[in-house]
Amino acid sequence: MNTTDLLNVASEFGSPLYVYDSDTIVNQYNRLNNAFGAVPNLRLNYACKALSNISILKLMNQLGAGLDTVSIQEVKLGLAAGFAAERIIFTPNGVSLQEIEEVTSLGAQINIDNLSILEQFGTRHPDVPVCIRINPHVMAGGNTNISVGHIDSKFGISIHQIPHLLRIVENTGMNINGIHMHTGSDILDIDVFLYASEILFETAKNFKDLEFIDFGSGFKVPYKAGDIETNIEELGEKLSTRFNEFCTEYGRDLTLAFEPGKFLVSEAGYFLAKVNVVKQTTSTVFAQVDSGFNHLIRPMLYGSQHEIENISNPKGRERFYSVVGYICETDTFANNRRINEISEGDILCFKNAGAYCMTMASNYNSRYRPAEVLWHQNKAHLIRKRETFDDLLHNQVDVDLSIALNKEVLVK
Ligand SMILES: Cc1ncc(COP(=O)(O)O)c(C=O)c1O
Repeated sequence: MNTTDLLNVASEFGSPLYVYDSDTIVNQYNRLNNAFGAVPNLRLNYACKALSNISILKLMNQLGAGLDTVSIQEVKLGLAAGFAAERIIFTPNGVSLQEIEEVTSLGAQINIDNLSILEQFGTRHPDVPVCIRINPHVMAGGNTNISVGHIDSKFGISIHQIPHLLRIVENTGMNINGIHMHTGSDILDIDVFLYASEILFETAKNFKDLEFIDFGSGFKVPYKAGDIETNIEELGEKLSTRFNEFCTEYGRDLTLAFEPGKFLVSEAGYFLAKVNVVKQTTSTVFAQVDSGFNHLIRPMLYGSQHEIENISNPKGRERFYSVVGYICETDTFANNRRINEISEGDILCFKNAGAYCMTMASNYNSRYRPAEVLWHQNKAHLIRKRETFDDLLHNQVDVDLSIALNKEVLVK
């Protein structure tokens, strides 16, 4: 979709607004599929925490993806979108045994990442096949908050605990049908994947009944033209060869699974916000938009860089701006950015707004969460309505406090 399409969508649906281009999602899916074309059994489980709108899930289902979920609510969304239960993998962290059992009854593949729950689950449900999440102790990822495979991380079962893990498996008689790792997000160096994969292969040899090995995700996507990104094609070639060799060694064709989030949806998303105020201070020119970290928290949370384009004035002369929001808190989207001259009322377009943007949006400052639009086959489809005042009050309980708050209490 082009700038004119984006402007038209903004004028039709208002701002702030998330817009997703289905062509980009389809292209990314096919790209990953093709990169691992040499693997006989490949499964791409879309990590729906990245973007969980049901229309996006339905698109993924149509493409043939499986679904990676981290909460029972995501599992239920997947089922509602039409995914077969056996194509959903549940990879929670720190959830209760009860939630895992509920997901088991829904039929999804369970992935367990700690020995305590593994022992309890195996004792109660020895017949349910389980995948285990390994922590390979590899430091990887674009930011400490998104590096999850290192020794101090809360995720996964340490490779040093394999003897304990094996005792649990033997004592309970449970069946381990998959092993999994996910070391972080925004991993650039494919050697990190290859190195961690060897650890996974070594671990896999301990289990005789595996059906799949899940290599997680973490592919780095470009955030601007010419930006560095994970070389998916090279990774596909190298890892496919190693995986096929391993399957021969193992004596059976296993499924190679990935669970990409960002790779599939990050670049498909655009966040459109209108400039309310251009404010010149002694040191800076601020462009203040009708949004804030309540709608797009990644720059404040991870220091992520979203390219920002003034689509209302794409040919204007470039000037330096700090782009900030309207909430009552520091909510800087970008500092000192070169952007085509901005006037009040212009629409700014934030790129890479498909992954971890809308799913992290909140009602902070009692603002409505934005609407979402899917651009599909040259047409805009509203896939989530903008919230209304009724939504803000929807779950609130208006208690009559007049009885408790007698005069005496008020005076205190
Ligand atoms: C277990 C797991 N799998 C997959 C993903 C998706 O990672 P990415 O969006 O980098 O592809 C994440 C991201 O947090 C994750 O925690």
